[in-house]
Amino acid sequence: MAIDAVRSFSVTTGISFRNCIWIPILMITFLKFVGLAEAHFGIFLPSQRLSSACSAPDPDLYYRPVIGIVSHPGDGASGRLTNATNASYIAASYVKFVESAGARVIPLIYTEPPEQLLKKLDLVNGVLFTGGSANSGLYFETIRTIFKKVLEKNDGGHHFPLYATCLGFELVTMIVSEDNNILEEVSARNQASTLQFTENATIDGTVFERFPPGLLKKLNTDCLVMQNHHLGISPRRFLDNKKLSSFFEVLTTSKDENNKDYVSTVSSWNYPVTGFQWHPEKNTFEWASPRIPHTEEAIQVTQHVANFLVSEARKSINRPPEQEVLNNLIYNYIPSYSGKAGRGFDQVYIFT
Ligand SMILES: *[C@@H]1O[C@H](CO)[C@@H](O)[C@H](O)[C@H]1NC(C)=O
Ligand SMILES: *[C@@H]1O[C@H](CO)[C@@H](O)[C@H](O)[C@H]1NC(C)=O
Ligand SMILES: *[C@@H]1O[C@H](CO)[C@@H](O)[C@H](O)[C@H]1NC(C)=O
Repeated sequence: MAIDAVRSFSVTTGISFRNCIWIPILMITFLKFVGLAEAHFGIFLPSQRLSSACSAPDPDLYYRPVIGIVSHPGDGASGRLTNATNASYIAASYVKFVESAGARVIPLIYTEPPEQLLKKLDLVNGVLFTGGSANSGLYFETIRTIFKKVLEKNDGGHHFPLYATCLGFELVTMIVSEDNNILEEVSARNQASTLQFTENATIDGTVFERFPPGLLKKLNTDCLVMQNHHLGISPRRFLDNKKLSSFFEVLTTSKDENNKDYVSTVSSWNYPVTGFQWHPEKNTFEWASPRIPHTEEAIQVTQHVANFLVSEARKSINRPPEQEVLNNLIYNYIPSYSGKAGRGFDQVYIFT
């Protein structure tokens, strides 16, 4: 059958099968000539001319950004994975969130000696504080040290973004207000909520700047974000605190289960620092709680928020040595499947 087909092809086209071997040889000769011609006379194939028409990337931006994520005490799985006393973890959802927007992650392991942590901070282009529950001791001191460094870098003209999520935002609220008792009890454990924009909230230059108008509107009406906290701060208390209101603009508030308003998104007036009482990473990457929104719009929320962090990190002027970055990337660690128990995080990176 196959031979017949070849024979009939030869008959109908007049190209004999044996002659066909000349075609590749001729082609190679031709391509060699073009190559020589190019080398000697600068002749380009049309396809080569097209590729040189790609516009150069913006030289002011850095296209290999790395985000440092601070680890939190424990194993993230209520001791199912390890009870080691110095264990700390990063839920893999934060890592995927960063990766999904075109950046890599270096874990900032909070138990490491401060000088080592600060060295790692010089390998990254922005920082993320995760959620959690630890609000004192070494963990709090590490968050405070890194927060101060973030401000210092920005004060020194180095655009260096920070995302503070849930507990991270609560700790930053305590640090900026210099009041460890500033937070109030709220009922927002395991709850999907809306985001209510404050009057005249700034959109340009904030995390919401690239949200399509339709999605921005839906944040007000649909439960597109996940809350999981029992502490918060009311807008009144936040605005009445001069240290907080001069550092942050309140962009959104949300309502807890008792209809109590609390501050849900803030953006620093003068620094690329954004605080979220909610969890932008969960919509796409966590599955244990059936209340986490996974609609197409909820996923878009996660994507837009991740994109803003990484777009800010690309403005960082830090160009760390690649090998040092590779030596410290989160890929040096293997995540554990912690979600098989049907609760908590789906995957965690544990550092012991
Ligand atoms: C950690 O401690 C708890 C409570 O004692 C125990 O149930 C659990 O098995 C321990 N976890 C590991 C990984 O050993
Ligand atoms: C919002 O802007 C309007 C018009 O400039 C102003 O009258 C109003 O006081 C502002 N509201 C707040 C809360 O700042
Ligand atoms: C945890 O403690 C062990 C020994 O107890 C030590 O080898 C390890 O470096 C510590 N890990 C961290 C992350 O501090």
